[in-house]
Amino acid sequence: MNNSWKLDHVAHAVHDLEATVQHYQTMGGFTCIEREHLPEQGVTIAFLQAGPTTIELIAPLGTNSKVETFLAKRGEGLHHLCFEVEDIDQELRELEAKGARLIDKTPRAGSRHSRIAFVHPSAFQGVLVELCQYPRA
Ligand code: CO
Repeated sequence: MNNSWKLDHVAHAVHDLEATVQHYQTMGGFTCIEREHLPEQGVTIAFLQAGPTTIELIAPLGTNSKVETFLAKRGEGLHHLCFEVEDIDQELRELEAKGARLIDKTPRAGSRHSRIAFVHPSAFQGVLVELCQYPRA
């Protein structure tokens, strides 16, 4: 089977975004390349360049945040892996046909003009998986 999923980013959930950006910088010389506040999703995020891929730091914003729930249940740590795909609608249909539980049955708007969808951790041995598709250049 031919695999076309490319690792786009690894997401790390934290309580304090600024402190963690500083920490990555101090420990590994990482550069923050982008920040976004997404109030409708209850998160604030920062992207750090890590070679060909990026680290997405996610912290809760406001009160009604899914990340807050995640942190309360599991503490700080790995939140999800995101894979870039060429046809997100097709990939979601295939995953569903293979029995994967989809959190987003249809893609929604993500950061950096992408379309994204989350797949339930039960489909990947406990790891939350995000798929993303960027607009064609
Ligand atoms: Co992500």
